[in-house]
This record gives sequence, C-alpha cells and structure tokens, in this order.
Amino acid sequence: MMDVIDEQSERSGEGRPARSGERTERVTVPSLRQRKPNGEKIVMLTAYDYPSARLADRAGVDIVFVGDTAGRMLLGYDNTIPVTLEEMLILVRAARRGVRHALLLADMPFGTYQVSPEEAIRNAARLLKEGGAQAVKLEGGAPVVETVRRLTEAGIPVMGHLGLTPQSVYILGGNRAQGKDPDAAQRMMEDAHALEAAGAFGLVLEAIPAALAAEITAALTIPTIGIGAGVHCDGQVQVWHDLLGIYPGKLYRHVKRYAEIGDMMEAAIRAYAEEVRQQQFPTKEHSL
Ligand code: KIV
Repeated sequence: MMDVIDEQSERSGEGRPARSGERTERVTVPSLRQRKPNGEKIVMLTAYDYPSARLADRAGVDIVFVGDTAGRMLLGYDNTIPVTLEEMLILVRAARRGVRHALLLADMPFGTYQVSPEEAIRNAARLLKEGGAQAVKLEGGAPVVETVRRLTEAGIPVMGHLGLTPQSVYILGGNRAQGKDPDAAQRMMEDAHALEAAGAFGLVLEAIPAALAAEITAALTIPTIGIGAGVHCDGQVQVWHDLLGIYPGKLYRHVKRYAEIGDMMEAAIRAYAEEVRQQQFPTKEHSL
C-alpha cells in the first residue's frame, strides 16, 4: 500500500502543530512600523509562486514580496518593463496560497500606476482583491507622490522605491547605482520625505551609497528596506534566485549567494535522465 499525502491539509498548514521557534503571529503594516524604534530589522525576500512563498514564510521572512523581477527571473524577459498586471496577478495568487504569517507585498508593474491616481487605485485594488496582496510597491519620487497619497487614502498600503528604479531602465541607461552626487542625494532625501508625508509605510532603497541610505533611514519614521544600500537600513530585501543561486545571470555586488540550488537542480535532473536512459529508474520500489 502506497503512502497517501493529505495534500489539502499539507497546503493550508491547518492542523499542523507549530514547530519550535516557528512564528505564530501575523506580520502587519502597523507591526512593521513598530519595529523601527526598537531597532528590529525587517527581512524581505521575493517569491513568485506557491512553493517558494511557503518556504519563505516558514523560514520566518517578514515580507514575502512578489516583485516584478519575476519578469526576468521567472518569465525570461530582459527587464521588468514587459510584465503585465495579469501576469502579476497569477503570481500573487500563487504566493498567497503559501503565506500564512508574513506580509504579502505585490509590485505594481510598469504602466499600471503612472497614467493617473484613479488607474493606480483600480489596478492596486485588483492586486489586493484578486491577488490577496496586503500592500503594493511602486517606484519613483516626486511624480508618484500624489498617487501614493490617493492609494493610501483608498486604504491601500504603499511601499515606495527610490534609488535604482529598474522600471526606468531606458531613462537611466541601465541598472546603475544612484544618488552618488550631492544634488541627486539631496533630491532623493526630499523624495523620501515626500513619500513618507504622502503615507508610504516603508521605502525600498536600491543601489545607493550606504552613507546616503543611513542618512535617509535616520531622517524618516517609516522603515527603509535596502538592496545594495548598506547595513544601516531598517531591513534588507534580496531576490530569491540571486540568494539561492538559481539565476544564471551576472551577479550584482549587493547579492550574497546563500546556496547554489541551481547547480543542485541541474545535477539532480542529469542523474534522473541518466537513470532513465540506463533503465535504473523506475525500480520495483517506484512501481505499482
Ligand atoms: O521587483 C523586485 O524584486 C524589486 C526588488 C529588487 C526590490 O523591486
């Protein structure tokens, strides 16, 4: 008799006793804001599907983030520009099924919030209603401040994103570090204040000098989440495929590989292919 796994209860996690050290409370927007005065760091990680969101949640990540980097990491686009709201919705819904405790944050893809605050509210509402996200993230400074205000007033928590904003890749001429000269640093500080005043509950700072990130972090009451922005941010975010060594592309300086899962996957698939060819798989053990 083969073992039968109770898929449904395994998926929902219902009925499973909490493992020792496993988090039981849910992360919320207010609970994230409370961490800053206590100096408690926030851990954010991208995840674009059910199994990875589930693993991140179980590992105790605070914010599971369905970023539009999915366009590159998962869908094979050259950059994040082509990602559509419909594609994001599929990924956000999948991640939703894997998350029990973390805050589920969804990226607003390029073109879904730049036209007007009304359109931004309509699109962000879909990420919450149809996707199950609890908050959205969008990129940019002064031009999106009014949109952040309107989204927040509509009850949609917004995380801002300054520094290297990959959706502006064609304006920036590539994925380059930002905020390196005094004028750019000053503008970024003003943008950060304006986003906070508009109601943003947090701010991603990407690829900026650590000293500038430290200054912005100290000047705001909302938490900053760094990626390539030094250790003084209130939290850090990394991209799933970078962290786990799955994406074959060039490594950015800010990436730390915590595993080489891509190599392990390839070795496992090669072993499987070899065993099939040699008729070593399936054995009696794997047959009915
Ligand atoms: O989409 C994404 O993964 C991001 C992170 C790099 C912050 O925006």
